[in-house]
Amino acid sequence: MKIGVLTGGGDCPGLNAVIRAVVRKSLQNNHEILGIKEGWKGLLENNYVNLTRESISGILHRGGTILGTSRTNVYKIPNGEETVKKNMADNGIDALVAIGGEDTLGVAGKLFMAGVNVVGVPKTIDNDLNSTDYTFGFDTAVNVATEAIDRLHTTAESHNRVIVVEVMGRHAGWIALHAGIAGGADMILVPEKPFNIDEVCSVLTKRHARGKSFSIVVVSEGAKIQTEEQSDKDGSFILSSLKKDEFGHVRLGGIGNVLADEIEKRTGFETRATTLGHIQRGGSPTAYDRVLATRYGVFAADLVNNGYWGKMAALKGKDIVAVELADATGTLKTIDEELMHVAETFFG
Ligand code: F6P
Repeated sequence: MKIGVLTGGGDCPGLNAVIRAVVRKSLQNNHEILGIKEGWKGLLENNYVNLTRESISGILHRGGTILGTSRTNVYKIPNGEETVKKNMADNGIDALVAIGGEDTLGVAGKLFMAGVNVVGVPKTIDNDLNSTDYTFGFDTAVNVATEAIDRLHTTAESHNRVIVVEVMGRHAGWIALHAGIAGGADMILVPEKPFNIDEVCSVLTKRHARGKSFSIVVVSEGAKIQTEEQSDKDGSFILSSLKKDEFGHVRLGGIGNVLADEIEKRTGFETRATTLGHIQRGGSPTAYDRVLATRYGVFAADLVNNGYWGKMAALKGKDIVAVELADATGTLKTIDEELMHVAETFFG
């Protein structure tokens, strides 16, 4: 078989580890592997590179993706599906391994329904994909954010300040929750629980009245602020741009600064904001992510070898299993309520 492999959506530590594993296992299974450049864009534009044992050597620990990535949506391009099928046929590509999150794998699922031989690998620092316990890249992002929180703790304490740390995660609070617990945050704000600024200030004021002179607040970029007028509603996002990508996502960001200003205004505590941004997505994967990515890649190569189309490699407990692509996409996996209760024990 000739197998095309692509990485789509936001990059994420561990992508190269998956590519390496897919190639090494598929070569053992006696297949040929073609790298598709920049996600679905490369398949629409016939932009490929041969992947050999030599070309993927030395990439296991490297961040980013040697194939490049894009947020191209096949279903937003006129005749996108037909072009994908035609280009696969013209280039003798029998099957695809799509490494991506909700958007990339959503396209993979639709292509499968249209008769394309495709399997998926769950990637995203946000950990918001259904049907898998963890996506690769999440552990690295959590470790980066935790180290940042540790560093912010020492400067917050020295200056008697409140520091608000804004982390990524889009519409799910997984990074905020895990890094917040690991970093000993005094308050964690997530998209799943719209918050009221006065309530946040009241928790901080009580903490400072008990003798603490500093606080760390971790806020997810997609957390929503409730105002008096809309306290029975969902609250509102803070956006850094209204421009939508091909999957309809607006760019989140800026809530850290808004919240820091409001905390300082309402409590009188000197407050600063730090936005971690793409630092959470760059650089080398953790050992955990390298192992998970490698297991996913080997498993995906075997799914292809066995012709198990329309499946995604997933982590369930300790095991890597096959799940339906269709079940993994469509709705987001939101945070674990029980873990949120654990985090709340340490608020204030
Ligand atoms: O999905 C991964 C992610 O890093 C989100 O956490 C974030 O909202 C988004 O991508 C940022 O996208 P971009 O890199 O296109 O600004």
